[in-house]
Formats: sequence, structure tokens, C-alpha cells
Amino acid sequence: MQQTFKLRKFTPDDLQSVMQINRVCLPENYTDYFFIDLHQRFPETFIVAEENGKIVGYIMCRIEVGLNNFGFSGLIRKGHVVSIAIMPQARRKGIATALLNQAMDGMRYYKAKQCYLEVRVTNVAGVQLYKKLGFEVSRTINGYYSDGEDAYMMTKKL
Ligand SMILES: CC(C)(COP(=O)(O)OP(=O)(O)OC[C@H]1O[C@@H](n2cnc3c(N)ncnc32)[C@H](O)[C@@H]1OP(=O)(O)O)[C@@H](O)C(=O)NCCC(=O)NCCS
Repeated sequence: MQQTFKLRKFTPDDLQSVMQINRVCLPENYTDYFFIDLHQRFPETFIVAEENGKIVGYIMCRIEVGLNNFGFSGLIRKGHVVSIAIMPQARRKGIATALLNQAMDGMRYYKAKQCYLEVRVTNVAGVQLYKKLGFEVSRTINGYYSDGEDAYMMTKKL
């Protein structure tokens, strides 16, 4: 099937579209400052997907320093997927897969050695997407979300 979407880096002009997709698709919403700050610090891992000139999805990440989740000692750089969402009408076309792959390239550019994220334990689409990309569940975080739901932390080596 021919690819119908294009990926490009986020620019501040995209802020309202991205915030709208975030509000439609996820209960975790953020201030405009939060989006702009992540873009200023980590532009290589804030990517949008466009279909027919309209933004239909985004991924936004942060680079952190933390313990190696794979059992080795020492601190390493990690890429943290803070938020990813695709508008309902644009799903199941490989857009989230493409956004994650490009964001993981950005994480490698920032010298991150692993990528991790949290996902609701009931989010079948999310968990399946990440498993297909080679992520594994590292642990369950009880009551991670503000409504009390648990999260899986899922991790992949870069
Ligand atoms: C999860 C989400 C980002 C997936 O986006 P997408 O662009 O549809 O994902 P892709 O097309 O790249 O799907 C890749 C794989 O993920 C899995 N997947 C995606 N949606 C799925 C669903 N509804 N049910 C089961 N598996 C699903 C499949 O394995 C799929 O491969 P396939 O289509 O060849 O079967 C999207 O459903 C979404 O925005 N959901 C709401 C926001 C959200 O949950 N974000 C993640 C929070 S951690």
C-alpha cells in the first residue's frame, strides 16, 4: 500500500494542532509551555505526521540520565517517550510505527542507549504497537495514572 503520510520535525507553528490531537486522544494533557520546552531541548525527537497537509499525529520525547534497565550498573542516557498519539481516522496505517522509528533515531543522535515509556495496562493498541517494535515490559508501576490505573514500563535497547 502506498504511504499516505509524511513525517517532519515539529515547529512552534504546529503547537495548536498538536495540543488538539493530544486532547482528543489522551487524558494526559499538558500546558503549552511543556510542549515548547521539550521542543527547545530535544527538537530531534519531537516529530509530527501530516496527511494531505494536515497534522494527524505526533511524538514528543525527553532525554534523561538514569539507571540502566537491563541490569547493568551505572548511569546511561535514555530516551523517554512522553506522548504519542494519532487521530482516530488516521490509525492502523503505520504512522505511530514511523514516528517511533524516527524518534528513536533522534534518541541515538542524542547518544541515548535505551528507549522507554509508560503505557496503561489496558491500552491494547499501545502495548501491541510497542511489542511489535521490540519493546519489552520491564515492570508494572502501580497507580501510575491520576485515575489510579497501573502502567507498564516498556523498554527497548537502542
Ligand atoms: C496506539 C496508537 C498510537 C497506535 O497508532 P497507529 O498509527 O494506529 O499504529 P500503527 O499503525 O503504527 O500500528 C502498528 C502496530 O500496532 C498494533 N496496533 C495498533 N493499533 C492496534 C489496535 N487498535 N489493536 C491491536 N493492535 C494494534 C498492531 O500490531 C499494528 O500493526 P498492524 O497494523 O500491522 O497489525 C494509536 O492507537 C493512538 O493514538 N491511540 C490513542 C493514544 C495512545 O494510546 N497513545 C499511546 C499512549 S502510551
